[in-house]
Amino acid sequence: RPGAGAWVPERPTPARLQEAVQACRGCELYRDATQGVMGTGNRDAPVVLLGEQPGDQEDRRGEPFVGPAGKVLDRALADAGIDPGDVWTTNVVKHFRWSGTRGKQRIHKSPARYHVEACSPWLRAELEMVRPAGVVLLGGTAGKALYGSSFRVGESRGRLLDWPETLPLDAPPEWVLPTTHPSAVLRTEGRDEAYAALVADFMVAAGKL
Ligand code: URA
Ligand code: SF4
Repeated sequence: RPGAGAWVPERPTPARLQEAVQACRGCELYRDATQGVMGTGNRDAPVVLLGEQPGDQEDRRGEPFVGPAGKVLDRALADAGIDPGDVWTTNVVKHFRWSGTRGKQRIHKSPARYHVEACSPWLRAELEMVRPAGVVLLGGTAGKALYGSSFRVGESRGRLLDWPETLPLDAPPEWVLPTTHPSAVLRTEGRDEAYAALVADFMVAAGKL
């Protein structure tokens, strides 16, 4: 389990990262995935949105948040008044982990702690490149990646946190805002309420811009 470090380019640009991640063998997840999915967006964005890992459609298309969760995300950002040009969107793990199929769709399986750790050099490179003022954590995997396994979205959502010591950066973000994962909105019984809560959290981030 070497981790991704050896594959990360020395002077990252969006294009170099996108190309280099395709060669990564930092863990075994590349084997069952179609391609690596690097972050996209504005490399000078004030905010980074951090999800878990690519889903079925992201794996096929090579871009983060282009499936059903991405639709919820885009709408919630718009409703919170966050310009899509003000974000860099990425995931803590760059290859799709799945197990089994349902029809044509492959079933998502959350990454293990060691996948998150193996993949973290990519996230570090993105954060050093973008140097955002803030990071929005979309769901528990992103929260645990930064704050450890005791992190609970339900307890921390909507409140601004300091950058954690677990991922030292030259220019650490000034704030971190945890919220739920947009796919949780799709799974929740009270969908409208869950969606409204997501937008309310995004508004806290919007207030920092
Ligand atoms: N869920 C995520 O966490 N990331 C994506 O890119 C898509 C779905
Ligand atoms: Fe490399 Fe991350 Fe893909 Fe593992 S999941 S092969 S560490 S890019």
